[in-house]
Amino acid sequence: MSQHVPNNGLVPASARAFAPATVANLGPGFDILGMAVTGIGDTVTAHLCDKPGTSVVKITGDGGKLSLDATRNTAAIAAEFVRQQIRPDLGIELEIEKGLPLASGLGSSAASAAAGAVATNALLGNPLSQLELLPACLEAEATVSGRHADNVGPALLGGIVLVTGITPDCLFPLPVPDGLHFALVTPDVAVPTAQARAVLPKEVPFSKMVSQTRAVAELMYGLYSGNLDLLVNAMAEDSIIEPARQHLIPHFAMARDTALAYGAKACIISGAGPTLCIVAPTADLAEKSGAAVQEVFVSHGIGAIYRVAQVATRGAYSF
Ligand code: HSE
Repeated sequence: MSQHVPNNGLVPASARAFAPATVANLGPGFDILGMAVTGIGDTVTAHLCDKPGTSVVKITGDGGKLSLDATRNTAAIAAEFVRQQIRPDLGIELEIEKGLPLASGLGSSAASAAAGAVATNALLGNPLSQLELLPACLEAEATVSGRHADNVGPALLGGIVLVTGITPDCLFPLPVPDGLHFALVTPDVAVPTAQARAVLPKEVPFSKMVSQTRAVAELMYGLYSGNLDLLVNAMAEDSIIEPARQHLIPHFAMARDTALAYGAKACIISGAGPTLCIVAPTADLAEKSGAAVQEVFVSHGIGAIYRVAQVATRGAYSF
């Protein structure tokens, strides 16, 4: 780390930020709905340094899998975008603490991007609003999983977000009803987003268009009315994406049946997978169904972890 800080005391020497995990799609809302969840996320610390540009000096929690190359790291790409906007004269070094598993369907790359952008913005005096950090995060996401904002939107804003495009005016925070409990079960299976998108159908029959539209409409009405039965049933009514992807997750059908048998109301693929998002009416049932689904994978020789969660109403923040 550089000791000399060339900023004339105008900005702090370092800033740290956390961004939450996110569950994209919420079932039928492919690429347009996403939700931040409690308990896990990524943390990025940004330091001022003498060397121009943005560099990554340390990554922990990634099992050595991520590159220190700042052009291939979403935290660094987002940080560099923000630096260029605010103080292109300054140099920034990043330390990244990965709390999220990679390629897991929990918005790992988006969390790193959001934390990198928020830490850099904080380091440079917070001139940008949370929404104004969206382009930086999307630039980062585009390098790994495509330019869609259903993970970075909720990672930045928290809560449940409707995403209708890739500009800040296309993010719409939705109501978050009480009583939503989740278990997030992550089997030790790699499902790269690109692969999970490649298996999707290029065209869908008219009847499926109608059922998918109905499911999204029910889901939205459920959020606005607080009708949890309607909401959760709608989350389970994805007739296009999940059927095309479920073969990428071994024992998916047994896992879902087990979750439902243990009192869960729905078991959907989180983002591109392989994490399963189990929706339950109580924290206790989320815990029990999460443990039971973990055991489905473990009993078939596949390591798995589960975490109970709720909607994280707060998005990425500096501290
Ligand atoms: N909406 C995206 C997908 C999320 O399901 O492919 C993963 O980036």
